Amino acid sequence: MRVLVLHGPNLNLLGERDPEIYGTQTLAEVDETIGAAAKEIGLDVRCEQYNSEGAIIDALHAARKSFAGVVINPGAYAHYSHAIADAIAAIGIPVVEVHLSNIAAREPFRRTSVTATACRGVVSGLGAVGYVLALRALGEMIV
Ligand code: DQA
Repeated sequence: MRVLVLHGPNLNLLGERDPEIYGTQTLAEVDETIGAAAKEIGLDVRCEQYNSEGAIIDALHAARKSFAGVVINPGAYAHYSHAIADAIAAIGIPVVEVHLSNIAAREPFRRTSVTATACRGVVSGLGAVGYVLALRALGEMIV
């Protein structure tokens, strides 16, 4: 089963961006953790990162043809991108949202996720482990 992990804007700066909030691991290190977990679960994973909203939407559209499910960290787009929410709702494959930080415990503008309304579930606040848990959940959905 092929699954896509989509990292949104600014996540390419993991490791140097607000490490007290997002941790000290780089995106490459997080992707390594994701790859190892996927192998264990029996999933064939591909990780991609995009800073622009349109690129994320294009990746979601493309995913519907070649992946069984998606794990997405939409970054700040989670808080206002109805276009990404529409894309998630449109593609007909399960999508699980991940946030490294606990968005419920942060600034008021981060406490709402409009993209989560189109997702099967959300993991928030557990750091990179959140991606592993989301992959496990996705694995159960697509067997
Ligand atoms: C984030 C939370 C967002 O509010 C923020 O804009 C990010 C990262 C997280 O993983 O905790 O870029 O999605």
